[in-house]
Amino acid sequence: MKKIITYGTFDILHYGHILLFERAKALGDYLIVGLSTDEFNEKAKKKQAYFDYEKRKLLRDSILYVGEIMPEISWAQKERDIVEYGVDIFVMGDDWRGKFDFLSHLCKVVYLPRTPEISTTKIRDDLKRY
Ligand code: CTP
Repeated sequence: MKKIITYGTFDILHYGHILLFERAKALGDYLIVGLSTDEFNEKAKKKQAYFDYEKRKLLRDSILYVGEIMPEISWAQKERDIVEYGVDIFVMGDDWRGKFDFLSHLCKVVYLPRTPEISTTKIRDDLKRY
């Protein structure tokens, strides 16, 4: 079984996220999502999600491309996760291009093109104008 892993906040679910999950899953058989915890978002990523971890996790649980969700609590856990889960392919959107090349001694690293014109930040900004 070919396993894929990706990480992110995935706040205010949008079609860019779904298309990332769909394309990541299509690279193999089983997609694992490292979902950034609220504490990791606030302390390390310096952003506050609109939906808390449990609500974001609930949404992800219902997406057919996602096999499993686990918490992302630190930048440093990726190498350990790849080994423990037996991951074959590490996937991120190409806004992260090059940032995770250091993992390529453990598995294949793939950057998928971001879906244009949509992001959680854009949704939040647009809603402020209504
Ligand atoms: N992503 C994507 N296409 C988009 C938006 C996000 O492929 N239009 C991917 C990102 O590249 C990343 C993953 O989805 O690999 C999670 O991104 P996240 O930062 O949670 O979503 P954004 O909508 O980019 O959120 P923000 O505006 O807060 O950065």
